[in-house]
This record gives sequence, C-alpha cells and structure tokens, in this order.
Amino acid sequence: MKLALFSSKPYDEKYFNRENKFNHEITFFSTRLNEQTLSLAKGYTAVCVFVNDKIDRAMIATLAKNGTQFIALRCAGFNNIDFEACKEFGIIVCRVPAYSPYAVAEHTAALMLTLNRRITRAYNRVKEGNFSLDGLLGFDIHGKTIGIIGTGQIGECFANIMNGFGTRLLFVDPFESSKCQSMGEYTDLDTLFKESDIISLHCPLRPETHHLINDASIAKMKNKVMILNTSRGALIDTHALIRGLKQSQLGSVGLDVYEEEAELFFEDCSDTIIQDDTFMRLTTFPNVIITGHQAFFTSTALSNIAETTLQNLDDLEFERLCLNLVE
Ligand code: NAI
Repeated sequence: MKLALFSSKPYDEKYFNRENKFNHEITFFSTRLNEQTLSLAKGYTAVCVFVNDKIDRAMIATLAKNGTQFIALRCAGFNNIDFEACKEFGIIVCRVPAYSPYAVAEHTAALMLTLNRRITRAYNRVKEGNFSLDGLLGFDIHGKTIGIIGTGQIGECFANIMNGFGTRLLFVDPFESSKCQSMGEYTDLDTLFKESDIISLHCPLRPETHHLINDASIAKMKNKVMILNTSRGALIDTHALIRGLKQSQLGSVGLDVYEEEAELFFEDCSDTIIQDDTFMRLTTFPNVIITGHQAFFTSTALSNIAETTLQNLDDLEFERLCLNLVE
C-alpha cells in the first residue's frame, strides 16, 4: 500500500522501516498534515498521522477526492480527526489502542521520584562540586496515600508499581478493576482529593473530565499534595494549578502533558521566543517538572506502534478483519 506518513521524526522512520515486513511503500514527511501540506497526500491510499495533526471536514473531503481511503493514527486517541466527516466521505480510520501501558506508568513513577528527591537540583549541584543537602529534603513514599484517577491499562500498571512501594491506594473509576480492588479501595473523588498525598491522573480527556483539577478540587486537597499528569493536558486548569502553586497549597507538580502543548511539544523551540506565558510561568517553579509528552517514548512502545499501524493497513488492504478500527 502507498502510505504517506506525516509529522515524521527520525525515530518514526527507523521503527516503521524496521517493522515493515508487509512491504508497504512508505514516504516519510516531516511536516504536519494540514491545509498547506494536504496536496502531498495526493495519490496515497493511506495517510498516517500523530496526535497533533488536526484533520477537519474540508481536509477529509480533499483527501477522499485525491484517492485516500484510510487514515492510520499511530496513537490511541482520535480527538484530532473529524470522524463523522470520515464516515461521510468513506474514509476508514484505524488506530493503535494500546502499545505499552508500562512505558507511561514507569514515566509517571520517574516524575514522582524526580520531584520528591529533587534529582534535577541534586544532579546540577554535584556537577558544580556543591554537595550541600539543603533544599533536597524529600519524604518516604512508603506509607503515603496515592490517589489514582482512572484505573484502565495505565492506571492499573501505575497502581501495581505504587503497591510495590508499600503505599495505601485510593482509586476513582466508574469501572472497577479486580486487580486494583485487591491492592486498594475504590472511593469517590472528594475522598480521594481529601486523603491523597500524591494524585495521579490516568483517565481520558472527555467533556466530563475537562479541567477535573481546578480551583475547587485543589481547595479540597491536602496541603502540599503532589499532582502528576501523564494523561491529557486539559484534565488540569493550568491557571488554577499556578494559583495553587503560588499559594503553596500544592507541594509539587509533575506534567508530561499540557493543555496548549500542540504549539510546542515535539519541536525544537530552543532558538525561538516562546509566546506562551502560562507555560513559561509553570517552568519557573522549583517544584514543577515538565516533560514534553514523552511518557510513551520507549523502544518497546515505538516497535508496537509501528507494527500495529502497518498490520492495521495490511488487514484493510487485504480486506481481513481489522481489530483497531475507530467506529
Ligand atoms: P484506558 O481506556 O485503558 O483507561 C482509562 C480509564 O479511565 C478507564 O478505566 C475508564 O473507565 C476511566 N475513566 C473514564 N472516565 C473517567 C472519569 N470521569 N473518572 C475516572 N476514571 C474515568 O486508557 P489508558 O490506556 O490507561 O490511557 C489513559 C490515558 O493516558 C489516555 O486517555 C491518554 O490520555 C493517556 N496517554 C498518555 C500517553 C503519554 O505519552 N503521555 C500515552 C498513552 C496514553
């Protein structure tokens, strides 16, 4: 199949070429797929896109007119595609629903430990020959209460890791997992906010979870709580988060996602003046650590993403049952 892969990075090229046992004819475009670059997709049976390629109705109409039959998302979420328009114009959409929950759960644990034991500050100090311990004081994770919101694949993995630390686990999820039930207790949001020392978000972004963390929920939390978000940026009202940090209500914050990340993440902006003042304010806090949507970024996950995407397209080409359609 002729496949145009957009928003391509060197690592995408490496893993897609490595996993291409199907002999798909892949062209890698480093640019995002947008109105200006749409003409590049002409004549390709499939386009492959990532989280920040936004594809609206007009673009879908043009893709269909130019011969594209399939959109392959190389990620789990599909909120960036007008799916109703795809149905209208007969374009089939597939995705990679799961590639490595361990990758994201382990990165969440890395953020937690880095914040608690001030690893970045310690690293820089030691490089400068400063071995003072002032300002590096952490707390034992053992014995603390961890609140996990969303106990799907990633939340359950994170619960398992935290169980190994000897913590008390509280969960909120409309669907209870038996594995989590055996490690902790399901409760309501208010109790989780009130009793948790560390709160970690692992639920999807939906209208009902938009700004789940806001001024009102922060006010219910324990003083000096740690908040971790490796899920989706808009689960948190960033302005409320900043207020909570300025008032010292929040002890620390670890983020892998940010509500306005589409303008920044996955690009090298080090030579430009970043215009997002809210993001820049967040980076000034000593008790905030931000990574640029890298929680998924392990070799295992990249192999799985490439393999599943290419398998999806092979199934579609040869009219076999494709298990990963967006329907
Ligand atoms: P999943 O679908 O397995 O689990 C999500 C869980 O959230 C489900 O159990 C669901 O019942 C629960 N949920 C839904 N609404 C809820 C609510 N209002 N309150 C509490 N729980 C609720 O998804 P998975 O694979 O565990 O992924 C979780 C999230 O992680 C994804 O939605 C995605 O946003 C994010 N993610 C981030 C990555 C990164 O690189 N930072 C990579 C992959 C996923």
